[in-house]
Amino acid sequence: MELGIKNKVALIAGASQGIGRATALTFAAEGAHLALCARNRTALDAVADEARERFNVSVYVEPVDVEETDALQAFVSHAANELGRVDICVPNAGGPPAKPFLETTIEDWERAWHLNLRSAIVLAQAVLPGMVERRWGRIVTLTSYTVKQPVPELVLSNTIRAGILGLVRSLAGQFGKDGITVNNVGPGFTETARSRQLLEQRAQSRGLPFDQVRHELEREIPIGRMASPEEVAGTIVWLASELAASITGQTVLVDGGSYKGT
Ligand SMILES: NC(=O)c1ccc[n+]([C@@H]2O[C@H](COP(=O)([O-])OP(=O)(O)OC[C@H]3O[C@@H](n4cnc5c(N)ncnc54)[C@H](OP(=O)(O)O)[C@@H]3O)[C@@H](O)[C@H]2O)c1
Repeated sequence: MELGIKNKVALIAGASQGIGRATALTFAAEGAHLALCARNRTALDAVADEARERFNVSVYVEPVDVEETDALQAFVSHAANELGRVDICVPNAGGPPAKPFLETTIEDWERAWHLNLRSAIVLAQAVLPGMVERRWGRIVTLTSYTVKQPVPELVLSNTIRAGILGLVRSLAGQFGKDGITVNNVGPGFTETARSRQLLEQRAQSRGLPFDQVRHELEREIPIGRMASPEEVAGTIVWLASELAASITGQTVLVDGGSYKGT
């Protein structure tokens, strides 16, 4: 199937590992050029080298903390200068810590807002003017299935990421006529460092072995396992493709059926 994104420029934040890394490599496999950021330069360089070697695409990398607005805006501008433009944008970063509500501090809330919502707003504001000018663009945010079904220990994520849905639906309505789609992907438990850390925390708090907690979790997922980062990446890339040009303002869950609503 032709996705129609060969030679497009895809900017992916939080691209040094996990779902962001898999997304970068999946875009590269389709012939898209890449602009990648995260904080760890060495890990980013490894992703960039792999994309160049395997898929012969151009890659621009810059170590950036997405909580730093000036640096994030500068990254978009450098990426556009280096690669000609930004056609596709995937706002992403790590998730906020798992904590019971009464143990969260106001600093935790500030940090979660900066990490997961403010950074997406900054990126969208930076990439949209060029997309409007060229009358083509894709923004695909990466959140969590917790936007539809709260996970008890993830109150920071449940709350802050709900704001992304408002952003996505608002931008979809405003920029559809400019050839721009804006969608959101919500992974369920996915095989990455983030899920390992959450499960280790659960195992510790319940005094149980890690493998037992993991098996319990996987039994609850209708497909009987966590998703792979590549499965989440495939949905992001498909939403960015020409095949999905009529889909906008939507949240697509990649959660193995974990969400029980309609
Ligand atoms: N894995 C799951 O089970 C799961 C489930 C639902 C939702 N999600 C969400 O999906 C997103 C991606 O998850 P993941 O599992 O791929 O996470 P991950 O393995 O922890 O990777 C997070 C990525 O974001 C980067 N990052 C973290 N903080 C950053 C910052 N301040 N500035 C720039 N980059 C930053 C990290 O690189 P550096 O450390 O180098 O900066 C890394 O590349 C997260 O928001 C996560 O909460 C994950």
